Amino acid sequence: MSLLELDDLKVHFPIRRGLFMDRTVGYVYAVDGVSLSVERGETYGLVGESGCGKTTLGRAVLRLNDITSGEVRFDGVDLAALPAEQMRKSRKHLQMVFQDPLGSLDPRQNVEAILTEGLAAHDIGTSRADRRARIIRTLDAVGLPSSALSRYPHEFSGGQRQRIGIARALVLEPDLIICDEPVSALDVSIQAQVINLLEEIQESLGITYLVIAHDLAVVRHISDTIGVMYLGSLVEEAGSDALYASPKHPYTKALMSAVPVPDPDVEDARERILLTGDLPSPANPPTGCRFHTRCPWRQDELCDTERPELRELSTGHKVACHYAEQIDAGELHPTRSLATAILPDAELQTKVPDA
Ligand SMILES: Nc1ncnc2c1ncn2[C@@H]1O[C@H](COP(=O)(O)OP(=O)(O)OP(=O)(O)O)[C@@H](O)[C@H]1O
Ligand code: SF4
Ligand SMILES: [Mg+2]
Repeated sequence: MSLLELDDLKVHFPIRRGLFMDRTVGYVYAVDGVSLSVERGETYGLVGESGCGKTTLGRAVLRLNDITSGEVRFDGVDLAALPAEQMRKSRKHLQMVFQDPLGSLDPRQNVEAILTEGLAAHDIGTSRADRRARIIRTLDAVGLPSSALSRYPHEFSGGQRQRIGIARALVLEPDLIICDEPVSALDVSIQAQVINLLEEIQESLGITYLVIAHDLAVVRHISDTIGVMYLGSLVEEAGSDALYASPKHPYTKALMSAVPVPDPDVEDARERILLTGDLPSPANPPTGCRFHTRCPWRQDELCDTERPELRELSTGHKVACHYAEQIDAGELHPTRSLATAILPDAELQTKVPDA
């Protein structure tokens, strides 16, 4: 059994208008039918552009956002159906490291207070000394000295603050940590350190990760499996190596072509699929394949009308594209010149409908 299984998870935020915000005029389809499994002891990397629903998905797993429909099974238990108090207890096993390390740490609390909070909430530790000993062990595991205990978040660098965020999750000895953009706020030089730290922790403690990032390069190295998200759903999922060796969905191909290659000859020769143009609004997603407004391979049949299912093309490699086989075989060529493919379709940029 997988440690975490999402089954057709949906999170739709109502858009309210009116004097008392009492009229629902539409929905933001932030997460719109995601199914995935995270295996125990492994790392699942979830990637996609800003606004595609990654954080909402992570928060929904912890029920920090209301779930519209679908199941979130953690160790076989459907969290979506748990009463609030039981859900609160489950959070000991499921922790999240938040996207913004500074914003998610209370500036008025020192590190000891920040890390004690979770221990107290879950009744862990028999005395103050016992809790302090746990906290010092955890700080050591994330590479911070015990002198950090009495210091405040603003006294640390970005990388150190991210370590505090990781320590806050780790001190509860969870089974799963959801890391939301663990390094995007950090200097490139520090990013590798934090990624390596996450790996070391996994090796020594056997923790399972769901790592969220907008940058494929960040998740590649640490992920066993990668899921690529576009406008609220998965468009491709594969083992990390398979995805890099042979991306099959047009969106993944475009994302991948934006990752620089170290070899200058390969870098010069490779094909780039430019994907500019905004993500259409999740309040008004395109019909059919949600990527059709930007897809260079779009066909007249099916693409605009039928939403493609995520289906297995080869063992463990799933793709949501009607024409994945033909594109892969080189039988179909980009139908629109890249110049037009990258222009956002003005009609589909409609934002939240006006009341
Ligand atoms: N509480 C909320 N109420 C209404 N809409 C929301 C809420 N939270 C998120 N959204 C919307 O849901 C969509 C997905 O947002 P989300 O933060 O999950 O994206 P993301 O993939 O994490 O983006 P980023 O890479 O910028 O962090 C966005 O359109 C966002 O504006
Ligand atoms: S279904 Fe059509 S529009 Fe969607 S990714 Fe495949 S070819 Fe492109
Ligand atoms: Mg986010």
